[in-house]
Amino acid sequence: MPEQNPEARILELTQRLNYLNYQYYQNSVSEVTDYEFDQMLQELQKLEEQHPALRSDNSPTQRVGGTITKNFPTVRHKYPMLSLGNTYSEDEVREFDKRVRKVTGDHVEYVCELKFDGVAMSLTYTNGALTAGVTRGDGTRGDDITPNVRTIRTIPLHLHGDDVPAEVEVRGEVFMPFTVFEELNKEREEIGEALMANPRNATSGTLKLQDSKEVARRRLSMFAYSLLSTPTLFESHSQSLEALQRWGLNVSPTWKKCSTIEEVMDFIHAWETKRFELPIATDGIVVKVNSYAQQEELGYTAKSPRWAMAYKYKAMEAVTELLGIEYNVGRTGAVTPVALMKPVLLAGTTVKRASLHNANEIERLGLMLHDQVMVEKGGEIIPKVTAVKTELRPENAQPIVYPTICPACNTPLIRTEGEANHYCPNEKGCPPQVKGKLEHFISRKAMNILSLGEGKIELLVEQGLVTSPDHLYDLTYDTLFGLKKTFVNEETGKSRIVTFQKTTVENILKALEKSKEAPFDRVLFALGIRFVGNTVAQKLAQHFRNIDALRAASEEELIAVPEIGGRIAASVREYFQDVANVHVVERLRQHGLQLDLGEVAVVEPQSDKLAGLTFVVSGIFSGYSREELQDAIVANGGKIVSSISKKLSYLVAGDKMGPSKLEKATTLGVKIVSEEEFNQMIA
Ligand code: IVH
Repeated sequence: MPEQNPEARILELTQRLNYLNYQYYQNSVSEVTDYEFDQMLQELQKLEEQHPALRSDNSPTQRVGGTITKNFPTVRHKYPMLSLGNTYSEDEVREFDKRVRKVTGDHVEYVCELKFDGVAMSLTYTNGALTAGVTRGDGTRGDDITPNVRTIRTIPLHLHGDDVPAEVEVRGEVFMPFTVFEELNKEREEIGEALMANPRNATSGTLKLQDSKEVARRRLSMFAYSLLSTPTLFESHSQSLEALQRWGLNVSPTWKKCSTIEEVMDFIHAWETKRFELPIATDGIVVKVNSYAQQEELGYTAKSPRWAMAYKYKAMEAVTELLGIEYNVGRTGAVTPVALMKPVLLAGTTVKRASLHNANEIERLGLMLHDQVMVEKGGEIIPKVTAVKTELRPENAQPIVYPTICPACNTPLIRTEGEANHYCPNEKGCPPQVKGKLEHFISRKAMNILSLGEGKIELLVEQGLVTSPDHLYDLTYDTLFGLKKTFVNEETGKSRIVTFQKTTVENILKALEKSKEAPFDRVLFALGIRFVGNTVAQKLAQHFRNIDALRAASEEELIAVPEIGGRIAASVREYFQDVANVHVVERLRQHGLQLDLGEVAVVEPQSDKLAGLTFVVSGIFSGYSREELQDAIVANGGKIVSSISKKLSYLVAGDKMGPSKLEKATTLGVKIVSEEEFNQMIA
């Protein structure tokens, strides 16, 4: 194939990927596989890196993030972002209808919509291109978080259509789907991080992150629910919703026109339980007068429009008996108590288990065995115990005695100051921990050896064939072939047989071989070091480049890496101080796994202004990501080193730099330069 000029190829890829994104998110059509899509995206990313001047702001690569923002600027809203009057009472909705009709007369039409429980967002499109994404803030001023908003795939970077105006503002709700929320929390639980309370908190926390790459990873989404422009483009709200949909915005198809209050009530009743089938959180419905002329007539109070109102659903809850508590041990040894309850019907499903998280939660609730407890379903997959009905406490209620020994291996549990969970310290001998660590090692985001999933690890552990990840690479066709186990599901009584037949065994061996190509950061994540999730593993791998440097790093050097705190540093040190772990790592090395990221990418030389100088880069910068700043040093002839010594020429210090690094540099008399000073050095 003849070499295409980069400009044309960048344009072609940009248009193709934007079109595929549109088809996928607006029309639910996948014209290519995820793999093909990723290949094109990677090609575009590479071309843009080689030719930064050709990158457009609306390139689909912006979706993957990469911008670090220190402080989000505060900006004034062109149209204030008001809130809605809300009520839990159907009578008050009828009152609202009466108030409206007094002003508009009897010819009124409403649009009923679901009230999405996320974070309000204002988007500005200028000549069809997304130019700003701003939070609600205090209603008058909000934070400009455009780099983060660009990573949200259901927010188009460009609007489609002939009737897109020169400037338009779109309002909507950004949210995190339940599945993403549960997945993120599971990851956090595994690495011992505090759990996010609900998808709304998770959304608002995510939108404020400084690293847009992390925002991209969290897969937020948005539903658009209003359109603002001067002059007004349409006559009614429903026409605006149709236009938003046409232009490529994500409009929930659940809205409905209603011409009587009874129809509004039917809408309210219909969604009361049906909303739990949706993949996102909703907390009520919004009733809006459809005609813009009538909206004008009705006007506004100081805080909210008189032409709209929110009806909020009461939480779905039920009362049932706490029968017992099950204590589960996870792969990190953390013990999680689970409430076992008398089955009860709640929002269409039978509930009998709920996580109680830790001993503090049991204490906070004041829970006793056989208590009548309140369970609530906020729509999340896992229901919550929210309160104890102390007035219904039976005579046979018994205090809950938290176990002092591991329910799986009888080792005394430990609880570190300041941590909520109890832990079983028997890492290498406690069956659920051994099994859990191996399951983590083979998981998709780690070594991706999925042919070993679904009970196969359990069988290998039981047979004594595998107790640590390195043993997986000792497995041969002969050891595996013919292994068999029957699993019985305790709840359903159904059985399932796992057998290692020819194809299964061949697939496993092939996947193990393939996993040897996984880059160092994934291997590091797969090792399952406490508090080292995949983002932390990437940061550590990027910084130290190989496992030997990581192993040699002192706690201080670890803490000096941006976003690595004391808890992670201590855990990494502890891991490498254990000879058994070092042995596992060495055996993985012998088996050919990647424990080195290799050389830093070649950077085109620009000048030799920094020739002979050495640099350490630390902190967050406004004009560069850390990698970009390091590239700029190399491109101008300088050298990057990993630690501060007397011989070091410069420490380039950004925001939020580790205090220990700063102290060391000051003590040793190393020159410290700011980002601006550095820019002058290479100017
Ligand atoms: S319309 C004048 N429609 O609920 C206010 N809001 O206090 C116009 N919300 O902060 C808002 N779903 O973020 C509207 N379908 C919907 C909505 C919705 C959720 C949020 C919105 C606002 C809050 C109302």
